[in-house]
Amino acid sequence: MTYSSAPESRAACLALDGEEPLRALRDRFILPEGVIYLDGNSLGPMPKAAGAVFARTIEEEWARDLIKSWNKAGWFDLPSRLGDRLGALIGAAPGQTVVCDTTSINLYKAIHAAIGLRPDRDVIVAEAGAFPTDLYIVEGAMAAAGRPMQRRLVDHDGPLEALLDERVAAVVLSHVDYRSGRLLDVADITRKVHAAGALVIWDLCHSIGVIEFAFDAEAVDFAVGCTYKYLNGGPGSPAFIAVARRLLRQARNPLSGWWGHAAPFAFDRDFRPDSGIRRFLCGTQPILSMRGVEAALDALDGVEVAALRRKSLALTDLFLARVAALLPDLEIVTPGEASRRGSQVAIAFDKAYPVVQAMIERGVIGDFRAPDIMRFGFAPTYLSFTDVWDAAGILADCLRAEVWREPRYNLRHAVT
Ligand SMILES: Cc1ncc(COP(=O)(O)O)c(C=O)c1O
Repeated sequence: MTYSSAPESRAACLALDGEEPLRALRDRFILPEGVIYLDGNSLGPMPKAAGAVFARTIEEEWARDLIKSWNKAGWFDLPSRLGDRLGALIGAAPGQTVVCDTTSINLYKAIHAAIGLRPDRDVIVAEAGAFPTDLYIVEGAMAAAGRPMQRRLVDHDGPLEALLDERVAAVVLSHVDYRSGRLLDVADITRKVHAAGALVIWDLCHSIGVIEFAFDAEAVDFAVGCTYKYLNGGPGSPAFIAVARRLLRQARNPLSGWWGHAAPFAFDRDFRPDSGIRRFLCGTQPILSMRGVEAALDALDGVEVAALRRKSLALTDLFLARVAALLPDLEIVTPGEASRRGSQVAIAFDKAYPVVQAMIERGVIGDFRAPDIMRFGFAPTYLSFTDVWDAAGILADCLRAEVWREPRYNLRHAVT
């Protein structure tokens, strides 16, 4: 199905909700009554089947079968088994992806490996406005490189070319910027990075599960990302790392733990890496949380990422149209062009914090990113067009009521 122009009434939204092809997916998730959840780009909701998956893991695999479950229940293989399934969502053929650790840790491994693959180069290019952990990890990996390294910073939307030369070992970029929601052109950038002889590392935290990514087709070198946002793997669910098969033999994981060993149960004294992607594992993985990722992937069974992307764009189109109609003076930060827009809409507003708090009180959960961004994530898996219509209306109500004048909306909490 192609979505034509955005519906122009609530009744038209209801009609579209009744016929759009992904409407049944909502039933695979638990969404509290009366809540319009626009924060799935931070923590996705719980897949309905996750409860039974966790219960089986706890009661049968752990309580009853104990240590036998490492083999019998396939615990040991979960990183690569789930990795292959997740790899399919990012266009990576089997054998190149593992689910493990956190995005920060996997990014560290990728940068360190890239530095090792370009021994005569001494520069890492990163985004000035990247999610902070990416910048901190670049610093940490450079400090441990064993030779002096330099960091060059670029804005999310470039110009990258000016920074690419024969000194650049790797470029670390976010597919979608966490604040603005801007989407980068992977094919174009990857080609430019490769033309300069460097390697590219994509952070897919804000696109995995909602936007297509062509890992193999675009000859991407490394990709990392989390599973708790649009993938709905649960709080703190393990992340992933994908490494191109052509690099695997030479790519060195700095965290050379026993799970990355070629023969972990030989208990050798010396480290000998696995010949495949398992070399990017380190140690024992959190099996309960891995099962959360499994339940999340199950919830996407039979769903094409292209279909998710089509609906996501239609949802953000509708939100942008409603905001433009109701609040024409608001500063929309997210690009209007579909080819440059992720699955969120960011609005800059100096009273962003109290507005987001007031919206939450009225049942619309979005989030605030300092200093002045209201961020609304549009997950096509469980949001309806009517949700989007209503959310824009509640945003307009909050602004018209000047909710920031109420002291309670200005109280800052550590986590929002
Ligand atoms: C773009 C981006 N990269 C990295 C991270 C950090 O991931 P983790 O805490 O799993 O290391 C986040 C978390 O929100 C993120 O948005």
